[in-house]
Amino acid sequence: MNFDQITELERKYLIPTYDRLPILAVGGEGCALFDDKGKQYLDFLGGLAVNALGYAHPEIAAVLRAEMGSILHVSNLIYHAYQAPLAEKLAKHSGLERVFFGNTGTEAIEGAIKLARVYARKHHPAEPFERYEILAVENSFHGRTLGALSATWPEKYRQPFEPLVPGFRFVRLNDVAHLRSSFTPRVAAVLVEVIQGEGGVVELSEEFLKAAQDLCHAQDALLVADEIQCGLGRTGRWFAYQRFGLKPDMVVVAKPLAAGLPLSAIIARDGVAQAFAPGMHGTTFGGGPLQCRLALKVMEILERPGVLEHVRDVGAYFRKELEKLKAEFPVIRTVRGDGLILGAELEIPGKGVTRELLEAGFLVNCTQEKVLRFLPPFIVERREIDELIAALRPALASQMAGEKKEVTA
Ligand SMILES: Cc1ncc(COP(=O)(O)O)c(C=O)c1O
Repeated sequence: MNFDQITELERKYLIPTYDRLPILAVGGEGCALFDDKGKQYLDFLGGLAVNALGYAHPEIAAVLRAEMGSILHVSNLIYHAYQAPLAEKLAKHSGLERVFFGNTGTEAIEGAIKLARVYARKHHPAEPFERYEILAVENSFHGRTLGALSATWPEKYRQPFEPLVPGFRFVRLNDVAHLRSSFTPRVAAVLVEVIQGEGGVVELSEEFLKAAQDLCHAQDALLVADEIQCGLGRTGRWFAYQRFGLKPDMVVVAKPLAAGLPLSAIIARDGVAQAFAPGMHGTTFGGGPLQCRLALKVMEILERPGVLEHVRDVGAYFRKELEKLKAEFPVIRTVRGDGLILGAELEIPGKGVTRELLEAGFLVNCTQEKVLRFLPPFIVERREIDELIAALRPALASQMAGEKKEVTA
């Protein structure tokens, strides 16, 4: 089937939840995605932060080949060889102790909320009030299922599905005074994205994060780091919270973990993890043998000397090039982010820019209407960044000219 036939069939049969780009993907290699017409795109969207190793990574392909004809699924009622060593690696790199495997990010957030609530109940049974509240941060995104959605800020995602789960409140971004005044004895956990991805690559301040950690420690509430988008090497560290030497009680990861297959994990401090007993939480597919074996390979690659250094090096280069572009194009208001999660906030809507980039052969995402968000694979090279920067110049110039024309018309 060709592009027109596919899009027509989708229009007829799919529930219309996605606004897709006009590309029919048929292959990829490294940072390049190929469409059905043979056009090549340099991918700075990275499957929304999933494709950390790029497309068709030879070692990932080798694992897939080796697993062909082997067990794809056994259920969590039976042991297989890969969950435990993968949990060991996640525990080691996060500084935490125990892991629960799920499938998607939102599902892992649900599990973390459940664990925080059951921990509060088990550890503080004698309190004269119930301790179940979750504080989230304005502008955050934690997922689409009802619990995670209750901790997600934008009205447009939440409002159509109300009533949501009770017991969630929002704290103003980086407002320590508001955090302190919101932190009542009913708080069971504070949920943070150290770098808010969907929210426009917005960094939480060290002061705010440390205050959240101190408040949690003082009353035995839990600090939960949602590292689904910014974790597992994306900032050039294993986890974004490590930049500030934080010690969260739980960390949630997903996106790049199994190289493109669904796999998420809650990583928790031992004392927290023990609040779950057998039968209290579970999932059919989570932590399957194929996903875990792929994730072991992903982790093994990220552990190699030079890999995370490369992320830091090209990330710093990319950010510097974006800063230079900002000096050239005042339409760029700010450049934000760390490693390979970077954003450029514009004065004008970003959609026109991403459309022009697409025509020029670059996949870039726009979030929050005006923020160009860059989430390339970790293997991206300086010359690919240079190509993107060169393509951004005419795209920004023509969009600025278009804006001017609209204003004077
Ligand atoms: C920070 C963060 N949390 C949670 C989610 C939800 O993950 P998923 O789409 O796998 O459910 C996302 C997805 O973009 C995310 O970026």
